[in-house]
Order: sequence, then C-alpha cells, then structure tokens
Amino acid sequence: MRPNEAASVAYRRPHHSPAGDSERRKRREIIAAMKPLYAHIAVVGTGAMGRGIAQIAAQAGSTVTLYDTQAAAMAAAQQGIGAQWDKLAEKGRMDAADVAACKARLQTATSLQALAGCDLVVEAIVEKLDVKAALFAQLEDIVRPDTVLASNTSSLSITAIAAQLKRPPRVAGYHFFNPVPLMKVVEVIAGLRTDAAVCAALCDYARQMGHTPVMAQDTPGFIVNHAGRGYGTEALRIVSEGVADFATIDRILRDQAGFKLGPFELMDLTALDVSHPVMESIYHQYYEEARYRPSVITAQRLAGGVLGRKTGEGFYRYENNVAQVAPEPPAPQVVEMPPVWVSPRAARRAELLQLLKDLGAKIETGQSPSAQALTLVAPLGFDVTTVAVVERLDPARTVGIDLLIDDAATRRRVLATNPATRTDMRDAAHALFARDGKAVSVIRDSGGFVTQRVVATIVNIAADICQQRICTPADLETAVTLGLGYPMGPLAMGNRYGPTNVLEVLFNLQTVYGDQRYRPSPWLRRRGAIGLSLLHEEE
Ligand SMILES: NC(=O)c1ccc[n+]([C@@H]2O[C@H](COP(=O)([O-])OP(=O)(O)OC[C@H]3O[C@@H](n4cnc5c(N)ncnc54)[C@H](O)[C@@H]3O)[C@@H](O)[C@H]2O)c1
Repeated sequence: MRPNEAASVAYRRPHHSPAGDSERRKRREIIAAMKPLYAHIAVVGTGAMGRGIAQIAAQAGSTVTLYDTQAAAMAAAQQGIGAQWDKLAEKGRMDAADVAACKARLQTATSLQALAGCDLVVEAIVEKLDVKAALFAQLEDIVRPDTVLASNTSSLSITAIAAQLKRPPRVAGYHFFNPVPLMKVVEVIAGLRTDAAVCAALCDYARQMGHTPVMAQDTPGFIVNHAGRGYGTEALRIVSEGVADFATIDRILRDQAGFKLGPFELMDLTALDVSHPVMESIYHQYYEEARYRPSVITAQRLAGGVLGRKTGEGFYRYENNVAQVAPEPPAPQVVEMPPVWVSPRAARRAELLQLLKDLGAKIETGQSPSAQALTLVAPLGFDVTTVAVVERLDPARTVGIDLLIDDAATRRRVLATNPATRTDMRDAAHALFARDGKAVSVIRDSGGFVTQRVVATIVNIAADICQQRICTPADLETAVTLGLGYPMGPLAMGNRYGPTNVLEVLFNLQTVYGDQRYRPSPWLRRRGAIGLSLLHEEE
C-alpha cells in the first residue's frame, strides 16, 4: 500500500467500525510503517493556518517542530492542536494510541536554529513580502541545502519571495485553506525558478496528509482566489444597478443556480476586511483587469466597519449568530389572468410553452400578442427592454423569464420587468409562475438576469485561467469544488449550460453594458466554436 492510501485509511474510517479493535490496530501498524516523505518538518508561524498544517503533518507521521516569534502563540498552538486530537478521539475518529503518538511528534522550538535538521519548512507567518523574504534568508543559513522552503502565502508572489535567496529552486508555494484539516485541497505553486521535483514532492506529501494537491503557476490569486473573483463581484454589480436586493440575489443563486451559500452570505461569513482587500489586490495585480473590478459597495461597508457575521452586521444583521432575513413577499392574488403570448425567440421555448400549459395558462398562438396578452420573453444576456424594442413588443406588457437553466432542475423561477412594465402584468406573471408552489423572484431589468450573469462570469474567468495556462482544466475543477464548495467546477458548469449559451450571454452582456468585463475569453470562444467540451485537455 502506498503511504498516501495509508494516511487516508488511518484517519477517515470511523472508530466504531465493525472491525473494532483489530481494525484500529491495523491502522496503527500502517501509520507506524508509513514513511512520511518529509520525516521532520517545521511550521513557522503558529496562527490559524500554521496550527492546521502542523496537525495534518503530524497525523501523517512527520515529526513537527513549531516556531513562532510569540511564545504564547506557540504554546497555544501546541495545546490547541492537542485538544483537536482529543476531540477526534472523543468522536471515535482517532484512538488513544494515535493521539499519544501524534502529541509526541509535535514539538516547539525557542529559536530558528533548532530547525537545522528539518527536511521541509512551511512558513505561515504574517502576509508581508519583506518579512517572509527575510525569514527565508535567515533559514537558508540554518537548514540543509536540500531542505525545501514552502510558503503558505495567499497573495504574494513565490518568485518575489525567493528572488534574493541563494537557492530559489527549493522555494515553492504551499497554499492551504482555512480550516486546514477540513479543507482538503492545497495549491502547490511553482515560482519562476522553482525546481519541478520540489513541487512533485510537495504534491506527494499533500496526498500523504490526506489532501488533494493542485499545481498552479505563480500568478495573482493562484487558482482558487482567482477563480473565485466572479461570484461576489458580479453579484455586487447587480446590486449596484438596483436590480435586486442582497437577499433576493442570494435566494436566486442558491435556489436557481445551486450554490450552497449566496454571495452576500458568503461575504458575511468571510468578513469584508478579508474579502475586499483580496478583490482589490487581484484587480490591481492584474493591472486593472475589468473582469476582477471590485465594488464601491464593499469598500464603503469596510470603511464603515460593517464587516459581516463577526461584527454582528454585514449584508444581513445577526442575532445570536443567526441572520435576520425579512420573509419573501407572497405571490399576488390575481382574479383575472390574462392570456399569455411567448416570443418566438425565447430560450427553451418548447419547454416554456409546456410549463405554461401545465400551469393552466391560456396560451395565444398568433404571430403577435393580442392587446390583452401578457408577453413573455426569455433572453440570454440581453435585457427585457432591448428584446421588447427589437421585437417591437409593447414594453408595458412584457416580462422576461430566465431559462438558461432547465426549469425542472431549479427550485426558483426568476422574472424581470422592464421600466415600463405595468403592475397588473408583473403581478399576473408572478402569480402564474407561482401556481405550482415553486418560489418566484421578480427583479428589475438586467442584462442576463442574475444567474446568467454570475454563471457566465465564473465560466469566463475559469476559461481565462486555462488560457493563461495557470493550471490544467482538471486541477481547476478540483481546486474550485474543494476550495470554494461550488456545486460543480466552473468548466463543468459551462458544459452543463452549454458553452455556446454562455458565449451568447457574454456577447450580449457586452452589448448591453459596453463593458470589457464581459468580453469572452478566446479559450471559451474557440471551444464554443468547435463544439468541444470545456473539460477537454489539449494535447
Ligand atoms: N487565515 C486564512 O484564511 C488563510 C488562508 C490561506 C493562507 N493564509 C496565509 O497564511 C499565513 C498565515 O495566516 P494566519 O491567518 O494563520 O495568520 P495569523 O495571524 O493567525 O498567524 C500568524 C502567526 O505568525 C507569527 N509571526 C509573524 N511574524 C513572524 C515571524 N517573522 N517569524 C515567526 N512567526 C511570526 C505571529 O506571531 C502569528 O502567530 C499568511 O501568509 C496568510 O496570508 C491565510
């Protein structure tokens, strides 16, 4: 059995498995026999991240030496990691002998000199380039020439950290996510001069620790923080246009697009003092690339200290850590439902007509709508206003519905009015589409509604990450699903909704908004043109 398999066997099986004691004994023997790739590692900086890294490294069988300039932080880390193991033992996920062995492997050092014999040093100190570079320069004079130096930086360049060192080839990024033991992915980052063998070994060691490694080029945000730019920034743009409020956008992206957390819930959880600077940093590092443009909304909230859950108020107010969300308005009561006419250019027209039939609507089949008809359009990327004008429809009776995603696959329908839509027509559409009990959100006009805009932005940014060869499509998917918890990888998302549909949304968004933000990545355009899966790995 390979060591990485041994690690996962040892820590994933529940303690109370039917095999009981003998199973546990076997696991202990596997761990005892397992040779971690790095027998002795050091973790410098024992805050939130250093603790997590030290925990999983000791669990994989390495001797781990902790070092921090704050003695109290180091002592707290050793005690805190021990407490984590005790908790795992209480839950039956580790047994007493495992805990004792791990605790024995966890040491602290009072000076950097004590790290002389280490095979790997993982740095998780303050996020400042000069401080990290100075630490590595000091370490170079202490450790062996073949000791690997890894940085857990989330935003600094590995190439820059290694620039002034005697041996840059042994320096790599090793970017874990918080909380480390639960977030099972790590980005292994090659600086310009990093030795490929160093990255390969760090990948193998990650597997021994039960994590999935993904390889990234040294670029701003690496993979996860780069791919994650689309979700929040596009949602913020939608709010800034007055299309819908925070809670409505969260509901739509959860119920229609399948995200676990809405973008505003997510920002409240992460806190704006963390997420807004990341948005700014990546935007500026990419020389004001429009795709990553941050929002004045978060800048202002950050300045005002309205940071999120941790301050009791963010986009939501929290009482006893529970978000206070106003209930959704009920569907309006409509006594006389008008007949419905559907634009011949509507997306998923046949499905829409069937849905209307199922909902008991009176459907008009003429070339154009009668003077009483509620007029439905289902654009991709365009706003309702543009479609009404181009198709010469009466805007007062025109309502849009987002059908990028198959209605049967969603828990919410999203309708959009235009500035001229009459209240009776809006209410009729709302009541009609709520007839079978499905949730309905009605938003103001927006190119691409909410889901189309956000999904297309995410897919486009992912495509551009592949275009820049920052990582392989497969690693991108792994990094995003494990690191961001999206319902699927962004390329699989693009395939699911159709690369040509996503392209249509992007082209039309660019027309509506005149913003370079929506220009499609050539990587996506080429695959859309050929009809190639976005997951296809190029030779
Ligand atoms: N917190 C996260 O969610 C997260 C996620 C991924 C990566 N990171 C990165 O990990 C690193 C650490 O982040 P954190 O959240 O654990 O920080 P933290 O503030 O919780 O801990 C940092 C620790 O480093 C110590 N320290 C500072 N300068 C030092 C030095 N010169 N030598 C030794 N120790 C020193 C501090 O005393 C502190 O205990 C940063 O580079 C950060 O960008 C953080």
